[in-house]
Amino acid sequence: MPSSFSNHLFQSSLLLVILLFTCSFIHPTQQAIENPQQQAKSTNFIRTSCSATTYPKLCITSLSSHANLIQTNRKVLTDMALNVTLSSAKSTSAFMYSIAKSRGLKPREVSAMKDCVEELSDAVDELRKSIGEMGQLKISNFEITMSDLQTWVSAALTEENTCTEGFQGNAVNGNVKTVVRGRIVNVGQLTSNALALINQLASNHY
Ligand SMILES: *[C@@H]1O[C@H](CO)[C@@H](O)[C@H](O)[C@H]1NC(C)=O
Repeated sequence: MPSSFSNHLFQSSLLLVILLFTCSFIHPTQQAIENPQQQAKSTNFIRTSCSATTYPKLCITSLSSHANLIQTNRKVLTDMALNVTLSSAKSTSAFMYSIAKSRGLKPREVSAMKDCVEELSDAVDELRKSIGEMGQLKISNFEITMSDLQTWVSAALTEENTCTEGFQGNAVNGNVKTVVRGRIVNVGQLTSNALALINQLASNHY
């Protein structure tokens, strides 16, 4: 009797161990989220890295929801900053395109909007190219990759600034101006931050 009882106990604890072990394998990312120490370390890393950017608050809010993926890896941090920037540039471009097609806009407003959509589309291309090359980053191509990224992301920033300038005069006014301008400025700030993080990565090696 006692031996069968302890045998049963052994089997149940074995089952429990296997179950826990399996769970930690199936959900490695959830595991990272649940580890408050790791989370705090990553949040701290993001905060410190963002302090060197021009828009640190935006940098922190745009990246901290990805803390479990970033952990304390500078390359993943920079890659994520580029991805967040690209997705914002794409959605802003789509948003402006739909506004440019809507009724009730004056011809000069439509024209400003269309120029901007074109500039944003060039910026999206530059960002896509950068993300593609970032995916190929190795120690052997580090210098050239960093130099390409600096060139392309700066070019994206220039395109976005040209777009923002188109909304500084009186070509577009009222609500449309406020909403659209806010979104483009946001894309420009995300891009500027991504560039600062690229410069940080470039000077740190990895
Ligand atoms: C960024 O996007 C690229 C392309 O979609 C993807 O391969 C990469 O894993 C993403 N990086 C991060 C950190 O999510």
